[in-house]
Amino acid sequence: MADDKVRGAVIGCGFFAQNHLHAWNDIADVRLVAVCDKDAAKAKAAAETFRVPAWYDNAEEMFASQKLDFVDIATTMPTHRALVELAARHRVPTIVQKPFAPTWDDCVAMVGACNAAGVPLMVHENFRFQAPLMAVRRVLEAGEIGTPYFGRVSFRTGYDIIAGQPYLAREEKFIILDLGIHVLDMARVYFGEAETVYAQTQQIRPNIVAEDMATMMLRHRSGATSIVDCSYSSQISPEPFPQTLVHIEGTRGSVQLHLGYRMSVLSDGVTREEMVDSPLLSWTSQPWHTAQESVLNTQRHWIECLRTGRAPQTSGADNLRTYALVDAAYRSAAERRAVAPLA
Ligand SMILES: NC(=O)c1ccc[n+]([C@@H]2O[C@H](COP(=O)([O-])OP(=O)(O)OC[C@H]3O[C@@H](n4cnc5c(N)ncnc54)[C@H](O)[C@@H]3O)[C@@H](O)[C@H]2O)c1
Repeated sequence: MADDKVRGAVIGCGFFAQNHLHAWNDIADVRLVAVCDKDAAKAKAAAETFRVPAWYDNAEEMFASQKLDFVDIATTMPTHRALVELAARHRVPTIVQKPFAPTWDDCVAMVGACNAAGVPLMVHENFRFQAPLMAVRRVLEAGEIGTPYFGRVSFRTGYDIIAGQPYLAREEKFIILDLGIHVLDMARVYFGEAETVYAQTQQIRPNIVAEDMATMMLRHRSGATSIVDCSYSSQISPEPFPQTLVHIEGTRGSVQLHLGYRMSVLSDGVTREEMVDSPLLSWTSQPWHTAQESVLNTQRHWIECLRTGRAPQTSGADNLRTYALVDAAYRSAAERRAVAPLA
């Protein structure tokens, strides 16, 4: 029944939000009641394409006139704090895209505002919900390779990311904040919290402002060492975009996520292989499908948390720990030494 549905709205109907809109349509107990974009044409187009009954070009107006069970903020980072604080003033549970915000203080302020309003806040950290990366996590959690002591989580591509997201060329912090944030988050998932980060950055591509390659070495509290490396300027054949490759060694074996979504696990001397690709959905296509399906998984998790009152895996508070690694990586690269993440 329509009345049992969770009433949601999306703010920001740009490039990546198209995936959010498709995914909300795929979740049976969600009803999108409004969309908003400061560019009225984009809001109207999203309302028409996804059959949403109301559209706005002003978020304040939307909150004033709609009764919402949640809002999904899919705008770019500089607008997140004002929009999350607006949602908190209206006591509306909020899911917000990564990167959380331009500064650590903004991130802390958003977590504080939602805590004070008593509403949940989740960061749309969708790598956590990517089928291949979740398969590796299950191997670790099942204890198949024992205690991990070394790992590499790697995302390297030459895919022209700037064609779809032209604002990235002007960012003063580029790949660590845009992509490293996802990969560092997975390092936290696989190896636990880090006590130090050492990072080196490079700018390979011309006509951008900041780094498009980063190599980071983390020492985790568990004693494990991990290497997180990211590149938007690699010439590799076959082109791996948008695959994250993983290599983890533990006391009883190892797990590797290879190109083509093949996972191999060595456990107590016995090897097994598994294909861990995401299924294709009606609105997803190669090679984006793993990223697209993870949006659906992320949003399903958010709705399940809203329904049950559980804290989301990637709550605002959790994402502060990932953001602290990003911040530490930039400080490390600037100061040319290993640094501790902010507490
Ligand atoms: N998780 C992922 O895999 C992934 C992939 C791509 C992009 N992203 C993230 O998604 C976010 C959006 O990126 P994009 O490339 O879709 O950007 P975009 O510029 O295409 O879309 C953003 C939209 O927000 C609108 N907007 C901005 N301020 C607004 C406001 N105050 N009120 C209403 N609308 C407003 C803009 O008009 C624009 O249409 C970014 O934070 C980006 O990092 C995530």
